[in-house]
Amino acid sequence: MTDLCPAVRTVADLRAHVKAWRADGLKVGLVPTMGALHHGHLSLVEAIAEKVDRVVVSIFVNPTQFGEGEDFDAYPRTEETDRTKLAGTPASLVFAPNGAEMYPAGFASNISVSGISDRFEGAARPGHFDGVATVVTKLLLQCLPDVAIFGEKDYQQLAVIRRFATDLDIPVEIMAGTLIRENDGLAASSRNAYLNPQEREIAGQFNVILKQLVSDAEKGMALRKTEAKATDALLAAGFKAVDYVSIVDADTLEPLETLSGPARVLAVARIGSVRLLDNMAIGA
Ligand code: PAJ
Repeated sequence: MTDLCPAVRTVADLRAHVKAWRADGLKVGLVPTMGALHHGHLSLVEAIAEKVDRVVVSIFVNPTQFGEGEDFDAYPRTEETDRTKLAGTPASLVFAPNGAEMYPAGFASNISVSGISDRFEGAARPGHFDGVATVVTKLLLQCLPDVAIFGEKDYQQLAVIRRFATDLDIPVEIMAGTLIRENDGLAASSRNAYLNPQEREIAGQFNVILKQLVSDAEKGMALRKTEAKATDALLAAGFKAVDYVSIVDADTLEPLETLSGPARVLAVARIGSVRLLDNMAIGA
């Protein structure tokens, strides 16, 4: 029999584990995920384990962050494989609630973060960040870990989570995990599985084109010009559409005219029906 990371399905069981660990003076970390775990997710488990004694990984495909016509039904659900993968990591426990445990009948609350949620993914996917903020608030309060980690892969999501955790005085340290890439530099993502071999090859150009943008910007090319050049290069490489390529302040995500402090390029390009997200530091 293969090893499976132990799992609990209710908030009460999760809290019982966390309470027992705390009674032993142990520090607790939380890694929120929607499952279909790949090496990007597993890197978050390894990174947070450096800071805490026990790691909880939540697996919940959160319906409220998917829009109409998005892939909620098709989203891969692979809990047994995920728990097998986690058995080989420092994870101690999986928290895998069902929909009714997270959103019982009568549920009527919503966390909405203005400003930082409005542009980019927020504009492309109305309601998406409300769904993320609401479920992450719940997960943080259900587990009350010392530290929770989120990947820089979803850079705007990380910024939104930092914002509401501060605004709502949630007593949890929010940690950032480095963006993990495949061998050809494509950002690791559960949605890469939707790409056919030809699309997968095109996808490998995304990071190459963004690296060129970073180099152009750092050499002093006007930022709007670097964005336009990268957009043209993506379309020439075979991407069907470019939703945005934007150089922004690394903290506020406000678009920049010139480089003055830490900056980031945020980008989304589409191949077939798949939206690929990537981002890179500029001038770091
Ligand atoms: P999910 O897409 O499953 O991602 C879970 C965590 O893994 C997120 O913090 C995400 O940024 C991180 N991650 C994904 N791919 C990564 C990569 N290539 N390198 C580093 N980190 C990576 O993001 C969500 O789920 C949900 O919105 C969630 C926060 C769980 C709320 O439902």
